[in-house]
Amino acid sequence: MYSEKVMDHFMNPRNVGEIENADGVGQVGNVKCGDIMKMYLKIENDIIVDVKFKTFGCGSAIATSSIATEMIKGKTVQDALKLTNKAVVEALDGLPAQKVHCSVLAEQAVKAALFDYSKKQNIVLEGLEDFNPDEDHHDHEEDHE
Ligand code: FES
Repeated sequence: MYSEKVMDHFMNPRNVGEIENADGVGQVGNVKCGDIMKMYLKIENDIIVDVKFKTFGCGSAIATSSIATEMIKGKTVQDALKLTNKAVVEALDGLPAQKVHCSVLAEQAVKAALFDYSKKQNIVLEGLEDFNPDEDHHDHEEDHE
């Protein structure tokens, strides 16, 4: 039911932890399942030089946040903003339908951290103009299933 990649990232998650004095921190949760993801970014000259995460949630939430950190590390802020939950699912060789919302949470955690970064820098990032970090993310589930 789970791909080898999902199992690998669940059993050996990459980039777990916190970054002190992070340039952007984002936390999102899903009220339906109660899972929470927190993402920390270190950004220098518009490049994500380090990223760490802490996820209190299901195996798929851990696997999606782990691979999402790998997908944005070394990328520009603009490229990280383009990370979609679909790309996360593809990178993991798929997720069961009822677990797709976990990947939405990973996308939202990255966006929430970038949103926090933009607020700290006093800049507006394209695509995040209407971002609401406190939004109930389970609404997105229907969009992606
Ligand atoms: Fe909700 Fe995985 S069950 S994030």
